[in-house]
Amino acid sequence: MGNRIPVHMDGTFIYEIVMETGFDGLKKELKNLNLGDRKVCIVTDSNVAPLYLEEVETIVSQCCKKAEHFIFPAGEENKNLDTVRNLYETLILKQFDRHDYLLALGGGVVGDLCGYGAATYLRGISFIQVPTTLLSQVDSSIGGKTGVDFDSYKNMVGAFHMPKLVYSNIASLKTLSEEQFSSGMGEIIKHGLIKDASYYGWLMEHASKIRNRDLETLSEMVLVSNHIKRDVVEKDPTEQGERALLNLGHTLGHAIEKLSDFRLMHGHCVGLGCIAAMAISIKRGMIRSEELSKLLTVMKEFDMPVTVNGLSPENIVLTTRSDKKMDSGTIRFILLEQIGKACVDKTITEAEMTEGLRHILA
Ligand SMILES: NC(=O)c1ccc[n+]([C@@H]2O[C@H](COP(=O)([O-])OP(=O)(O)OC[C@H]3O[C@@H](n4cnc5c(N)ncnc54)[C@H](O)[C@@H]3O)[C@@H](O)[C@H]2O)c1
Ligand SMILES: [Zn+2]
Repeated sequence: MGNRIPVHMDGTFIYEIVMETGFDGLKKELKNLNLGDRKVCIVTDSNVAPLYLEEVETIVSQCCKKAEHFIFPAGEENKNLDTVRNLYETLILKQFDRHDYLLALGGGVVGDLCGYGAATYLRGISFIQVPTTLLSQVDSSIGGKTGVDFDSYKNMVGAFHMPKLVYSNIASLKTLSEEQFSSGMGEIIKHGLIKDASYYGWLMEHASKIRNRDLETLSEMVLVSNHIKRDVVEKDPTEQGERALLNLGHTLGHAIEKLSDFRLMHGHCVGLGCIAAMAISIKRGMIRSEELSKLLTVMKEFDMPVTVNGLSPENIVLTTRSDKKMDSGTIRFILLEQIGKACVDKTITEAEMTEGLRHILA
């Protein structure tokens, strides 16, 4: 399959996703973007900077007129407009104009914030994604959704803004914590469930290599997941239909994440939401009941929680109502017709959700 995936919109080429096992290849990719008379500001966080900034900044400085950087404290709590303001300030002080570039070096928090900064500074400048977490390499860096949180509201302020390049260094996954890695697996298992049964089986077969972060296996995994996400966002870039399938496990997962005060990790909550969605699909006679125990086995292989303590199903369902309000009063719930095939359902009842949640509440 190679290590490059082009992304199109309305049939027009927009950008390429490139996967490598080091940062060396970034030089060639940046040269292709012709940045010779452009400035580039690398946006990164306080955890990623000590690991990778020096190496990346050296490469960037060889490919453009001047490399700068902006480092903000790591953590979702800093994915907000205050940090964006500081970024604007840096860009103004460094005299960035509308031809200059931003480069997001980090996880989804950095990518979302940097992308939003790029979408809005001077009505939009170009940016590059260099995702360094599993979640960002298979999910958040692709598809052009950018944004920040506002008070306690997640991703409340944002814009669609496509990057000029996504460059994933798979080897950067080696320094990721066990917990972050396992959380990323939640979105990957979801990809198998909604689009590709054989990939889902492959994940199970390669579990130990994946857990041990064997680079060849991880490269293949990131590649397949990127193909799946690319195919979905190409068909539906602004989430009018098909893209909703990526929300498998997210309606209930978001509610669990919120009620845990974000102590539980996003991918883990998505996994829990997938269990409940599968239980509902089974109850409706859409898929066979054996599939649920298979899913639990896969999730346990990747150290994902399969139950959650201290939450009531009623409270979780109540919390989904705020998502519903934001989507003109309907919940577009994602169910599974079979492994590898998901569908949108608008008829889901709160009673069904409550029943599905019983499978994950300890
Ligand atoms: N735009 C989208 O389509 C989209 C999709 C899914 C999620 N998201 C967003 O993504 C964010 C979550 O992304 P995330 O899970 O990558 O979180 P994150 O960016 O907070 O990264 C997780 C942690 O890992 C650290 N880190 C990053 N790379 C590392 C590395 N290589 N080695 C060691 N540590 C490293 C970070 O500093 C951070 O502490 C959320 O804000 C979510 O809303 C966006
Ligand atoms: Zn998600």
